[in-house]
Amino acid sequence: EITCPDQVFLDKLDRELKIEPKDWMPEPYRQTLIRQISQHAHSEIVGMLPEGNWITRAPSLKRKAILLAKVQDEAGHGLYLYAAAETLGISREKMYQQLHNGKAKYSSIFNYPTLSWADIGAIGWLVDGAAIMNQVPLCRNSYGPYARAMVRICKEESFHQRQGFEILLTLSRGTPQQRAMAQDAVNRWWWPSMMMFGPPDASSPHTQQSMRWKIKRFTNDELRQKFVDICAEQATILGFSLPDPLLKWNATTGHFDFGPINWDEFNQVINGNGPCNKERLDARRKAWDDGEWVREAAEAHAAKQKTKAAA
Ligand code: 3HC
Repeated sequence: EITCPDQVFLDKLDRELKIEPKDWMPEPYRQTLIRQISQHAHSEIVGMLPEGNWITRAPSLKRKAILLAKVQDEAGHGLYLYAAAETLGISREKMYQQLHNGKAKYSSIFNYPTLSWADIGAIGWLVDGAAIMNQVPLCRNSYGPYARAMVRICKEESFHQRQGFEILLTLSRGTPQQRAMAQDAVNRWWWPSMMMFGPPDASSPHTQQSMRWKIKRFTNDELRQKFVDICAEQATILGFSLPDPLLKWNATTGHFDFGPINWDEFNQVINGNGPCNKERLDARRKAWDDGEWVREAAEAHAAKQKTKAAA
C-alpha cells in the first residue's frame, strides 16, 4: 500500500497521470516548473523583439501580414505560459520583476540582432524549428496546465517554422544578392540555434531530475541531435550550406556528426553579455513603464465595476 505523498506522487508519474494545480507535489517539482514555465514565457515575449524590428520593413504586404500574425502569436504564447505558471502560486508581477531585474533567464537565442530580412526566414526555419523540437515533447510533460498550453502553442509554432522555410526557399530562388543575404543569415543563426537546447547533458544541472519528473521527455543532446538531422536534410533542399565543416552523415550511428559548440559564447549570452541582452531588457522595462497608465486605467475600471455591482 503506497502511503507517503512522495511515493504517491512518483507512482502517479509512473502511471502517466497528470499533476494538477491542486494536487500535492514536492516543493522542488513546483519550483522547477515555476522556473522553467516562467522563463519559457519570458522567452516568448522577448522573442517578439528581434522580429518586431522587421514588421515595418517587410518586403511585401503579404510578408508583413504573416510576420504580424507570428509576432502576435508569440505574445499569446507568453500569456498562456504566464497563466500556467500562476497556477503554481507565483504572481504575474513577480515574474515580470524577475525578468526586469535580470534574475530570470529567457532563451539565449533572442540576444542576437536581426540584420537583414533573411534573418526573419532563418529565425522561422531554425529558431522556431528548434522550438518545435523542444516543445512537442512538452505537450506530454507531467504538469497538466503546462502540457495543455503547449498543445495550442505547437500548432501555431509549425506555421512559424513553415513560413520561415518558405521565405528562405523564395530567397534561394532569387538573385545572387538574395541568395548571399540568406546564406549569411543561416551562417549567423545556425550555432545560436544549436545552443537553444541547453548545455550538454553532462553539464546540465536539471536534465536528470526533469527527466525523472517527466517534465523533459528527451535530454538536451537528444533533441539537439534530432534538430541537426532534420536541418541538414532541409538545408540541402534550400541549397544553402550550414556553417559546420564537420557536419557529416554517419551511417554507423544513423545521425549527422557535427562540430563543437562554443559553450563559452553560450555562457556569456545567458549571463547577460550577449550582443543584444541590454537592448532587449531595456525594451522590456520601457514597455512596462509605458504601460503603467493602461494598468492604472484597468484597475480604476475594475474598481468602478465592483462598486456598481455592490450598489
Ligand atoms: N537560453 C537561456 N538559458 C538557458 C538555455 C537557453 N537556450 N538553455 C539552458 N539554459 C539555462 C537553464 O535555464 C538553466 O539555468 P537556471 O537554472 O538559472 O534556469 C541552466 O541554463 C542549465 O540548463 P539545463 O539544461 O540544466 O536547464 P533546463 O532543464 O531548464 O533546460 C531548457 C533548459 C531546455 C531551455 C528547458 O528549460 C526548456 O525546455 N524550457 C522550455 C522551452 C523553452 O524555453 N524554449 C525556448 C524558448 S521558446 C521559443 O523559442 C519561442 C519560439 O516561439 C521562437
